[in-house]
Amino acid sequence: MNTSHMKVNVGDFQIGEEERRAINEVLDSGKITEGSKVKNFEIKLAEYTGTKYAVAVNSGTSALIAGIAALKRADEGKWDSKTKVITAPVTYVATSNAVVLNELEPVFVDIDPLTFSITPENIKAHLEEADDPGEYGAILPVHLMGYPCDMDKINKIAKEYGLNVIEDSAQALGTTYKGKQAGSQSDFSIFSFYIAHNVQAGEMGAVVTDDPDIWRLVKKIKSNGRMCDCRICTRQEGKCPKLLGYKGHDDFDPRFTHEFVGYNFKTMDFQAALALTQLKKVDWIIKQRQENVRYLNEELENFSEHIQFPVYSKDISYLAYPMVLKPDSGISRKQLRTELEKLGVETRPLFGCIPTQQPAYKHLKDGYAGKLSNAEYIGSNGFYIGCHQYLQNEDLDHVVASFKKIFQSI
Ligand SMILES: Cc1ncc(COP(=O)(O)O)c(C=O)c1O
Repeated sequence: MNTSHMKVNVGDFQIGEEERRAINEVLDSGKITEGSKVKNFEIKLAEYTGTKYAVAVNSGTSALIAGIAALKRADEGKWDSKTKVITAPVTYVATSNAVVLNELEPVFVDIDPLTFSITPENIKAHLEEADDPGEYGAILPVHLMGYPCDMDKINKIAKEYGLNVIEDSAQALGTTYKGKQAGSQSDFSIFSFYIAHNVQAGEMGAVVTDDPDIWRLVKKIKSNGRMCDCRICTRQEGKCPKLLGYKGHDDFDPRFTHEFVGYNFKTMDFQAALALTQLKKVDWIIKQRQENVRYLNEELENFSEHIQFPVYSKDISYLAYPMVLKPDSGISRKQLRTELEKLGVETRPLFGCIPTQQPAYKHLKDGYAGKLSNAEYIGSNGFYIGCHQYLQNEDLDHVVASFKKIFQSI
């Protein structure tokens, strides 16, 4: 077979009849900003993740910023600009950025080399060695690539030290941990529906939580701190509870009365409409990705002396197919990625270790020197390719043939 034309992308989004219908429904409704699709998506996402509430926002980054802002506002006495949040060094940089943008201090502990997750052991050791454990406010683990962090142990440590727990589940919709959905075992969790993720909407994110205070606060924060926080708006029926006796005024509109300073993180019905179509297919999406990971692991096994391949489990909702070059692989990551790209196999680096390899955090570099050896190794040698639901057998075989070709020539 001539495979010179083949392109195996990291992700793919196919627009079929259902997706077109969903978008046309929004156009026909005459309302393109947040409306019934967003509301419906929030209900369905909460149901799927086994949480009580979901709030849709315009990105996963916004979800993190708004969620952390809500946590701070819910217990104002607990936080100040020195409050530390223990989080993952290897992740998409938004996790740490959201902490910084909330005027808190991200603190990084090392990760497990197989699952890229911060380990309970490292979190515990860090807190035990801290000069003042009272300076810590939260633990923010990331379920990177869909691998679940050890939430029972993390929650136990958090309880012991009086810390909040936030799950960054941006990459893990549908992953389960001890039978529970990723994103359902913390004060709040976030998801991203960015185009490269398992459930895609172009750009969109969400906060899920069981806490009604966090839920209400996120709703306000995403709309410039406006007063509205009802589940269903009853303003047009003249029953808006906010209209009744707000400090004795009866002539104000809750949509334009702002309790505090917030953001505009609202999304649109278009995105929610697309996400709803994908959520319907989520079981199929997850299964296809798992099957692709299993197949690639079997077929690439011969290269396991050079490359660490992903852990396979039916509990994991794979964002992609992550690999790490072993120390004596005989090829650099740059060389391997270049060769794969030449053969039409798209690749991405596994993010880089934030405090030592990301320019935006260069002020932390010296302080972390030698402290995050696994994260630095993964940051320099980790990369991923696609395992998405639209890959066909011939695509997977092309990936395998590409690895054979590259490793034969070194
Ligand atoms: C782990 C993680 N956190 C947060 C985000 C931010 O999501 P978004 O790109 O929707 O802002 C992403 C996006 O890829 C992510 O992978």
